[in-house]
Amino acid sequence: MITREQCLDLLHGLQEPLSGKDLVELQWIRDIMVKPGQVALTIILAPDGASDSIRDGLTAQIKSKLVSSGATDVHVRIRIASEQEMAAAGLGHRNAGPVSQGQSTQSSGQSAPQGHGAGLEQLSPLLSPSSKVAFIGVASGKGGVGKSTVTVNLAVALARQGKKVGVIDADIYGFSVPDMMGIEDRPIIQDEQVIPIERFGVKVMSMGFFVEDNSPIVWRGPMLGKMLRNFFQEVNWGELDVVLIDLPPGTGDIALDIHQMIPQTKEIIVTTPHSTAAFVAARAGAMAITTKHEIIGVVENMAYLECGACGDKQYVFGRGGGGKLAESLHTSLLAQIPLGAPENHPSEPDFSPSVYRESHPIGQLYNELAQRLIDNGVIS
Ligand SMILES: Nc1ncnc2c1ncn2[C@@H]1O[C@H](COP(=O)(O)OP(=O)(O)O)[C@@H](O)[C@H]1O
Ligand SMILES: [Mg+2]
Repeated sequence: MITREQCLDLLHGLQEPLSGKDLVELQWIRDIMVKPGQVALTIILAPDGASDSIRDGLTAQIKSKLVSSGATDVHVRIRIASEQEMAAAGLGHRNAGPVSQGQSTQSSGQSAPQGHGAGLEQLSPLLSPSSKVAFIGVASGKGGVGKSTVTVNLAVALARQGKKVGVIDADIYGFSVPDMMGIEDRPIIQDEQVIPIERFGVKVMSMGFFVEDNSPIVWRGPMLGKMLRNFFQEVNWGELDVVLIDLPPGTGDIALDIHQMIPQTKEIIVTTPHSTAAFVAARAGAMAITTKHEIIGVVENMAYLECGACGDKQYVFGRGGGGKLAESLHTSLLAQIPLGAPENHPSEPDFSPSVYRESHPIGQLYNELAQRLIDNGVIS
């Protein structure tokens, strides 16, 4: 397996397009993550030197260099340098602003911050190293197991217990959080920042807010990373205790983006009780383990159907998948949520298709799940 250092060696010589400086020497190649066969990294580019053709050209060069050294899967994210990074690189005078107003610019010898999470606090105070916000990714091996249902109901349950909760709908192909929560409003912009929509005490941000008429989105990889970034940079989240991230199913690019931007993310894995579903979910768990994200536990959804009259449980989707998955991931089974409709009515003012009321038996199970996360210190 190629190492981080070998990776940097291979990329020596790649130039920042405006100044011709070596991107490696500028320390503008960041967040390198290597796994067997896989490399993910971020390159930083000056705002004026980041046209689509430059991006595509650099990405292609990086891919060809790394692929020829054995990586089969190379993920390149591009982000725009902040004013501080421009100044640190000796490029700051191109910008208007404090650096150019006759004040001395920082010398180009001054190194930019590096390493995981470096500079991310400039994106959003939520990402600052001193931030106490808990990030919880909700992952699954495949779609349709109730990942989004679990995300929104856990979020609402945490809010009911007085926590300040944000939800990022990062399942960009299958965004569903706004609909599930019955959100019809669209966010407003205030002081050039997007204000998340608040529903049931939960602040929500979703790509669904920005897509007209449910039209399909055909996006390339780099756009996805940018979206996530924008959800921090362009959004005024205010104060939060916890952010739940509805991850896309599987183990794709977004998971790596999350890893690069929010390495402290912990994960909950959702599965159905069926053994094949649990087997597929194990891959999402394995991904969490390789990215060193702590797995908080497993939620088994659609665990059983309870007979209203007799209370008997019918295991319509099989039995035991959640427990087995938790065991194989050396984590705990946090909750078993049965099948059941939220029983909300569209005529009610707080209608939402997928949020269970607090008094609903399933709503109570989500309350217990929320309490468990608070008790075990995942959320402070
Ligand atoms: N416990 C449950 N009981 C009944 N229906 C459920 C339950 N969990 C999820 N669903 C339904 O199953 C479908 C898939 O759930 P969803 O949360 O969208 O899955 P995912 O995000 O994993 O694709 C949705 O229609 C949802 O309303
Ligand atoms: Mg979903």
